[in-house]
Amino acid sequence: MQNRRVERIQESKFSDIANATTELVASNAPISRELIKVSQNLLKSRVISMETWTQGWADPETANQSLPAALSSDTRRLIRDQILEGCEILHEVTSCREVGVRLAALHSMMCPRFHIDNLQCRLMITLSGEGTEWIPNQFVDWDMFYDLSDRRPPIRTGANIEKMPSGYWYLLKGGAWEKDYPGIVHRSPDSDRERLLLSLDPILDR
Ligand SMILES: [Fe+2]
Repeated sequence: MQNRRVERIQESKFSDIANATTELVASNAPISRELIKVSQNLLKSRVISMETWTQGWADPETANQSLPAALSSDTRRLIRDQILEGCEILHEVTSCREVGVRLAALHSMMCPRFHIDNLQCRLMITLSGEGTEWIPNQFVDWDMFYDLSDRRPPIRTGANIEKMPSGYWYLLKGGAWEKDYPGIVHRSPDSDRERLLLSLDPILDR
């Protein structure tokens, strides 16, 4: 699709999220096969449900201690390193000192309705399962979006729902990014497949 406001650029350029016309920035580098395997096994094992914690942006200890005790050392290391990589990206982009971490195994659609999160930004990655769906702002039918009785995807005729493929970091602008931008319109994928989702929110108000 032409006119897509997606920037697929190097990880070192996540700071380009600051561009007024950019809604999200994706990493070019996918996660390793090892991490894909570990993530699949984590879903199967049911060891993870919904783990949330706050940690410093360069704090491996809190990540280590916050992950479930049942994780093997290899699994713990791989997941922890992925979290720390994300925290570093967020720190570079927002100068945050602390990050809210959520690692969740989702067995049904968590947010089936297209919505906007009232955050400045969020860094997320689907480690296993299908990626998050989104609609570029210019293709959102805002009347449908705000009509809560309308269950159809709020998308203009001729446009397509986009997907954030699994295995890549995505940095998204939320509703609190700036007053002239409503925030990225997105939802959990329309799928019954289980997902392992890691999302990181910068903590900026302390
Ligand atoms: Fe959301």
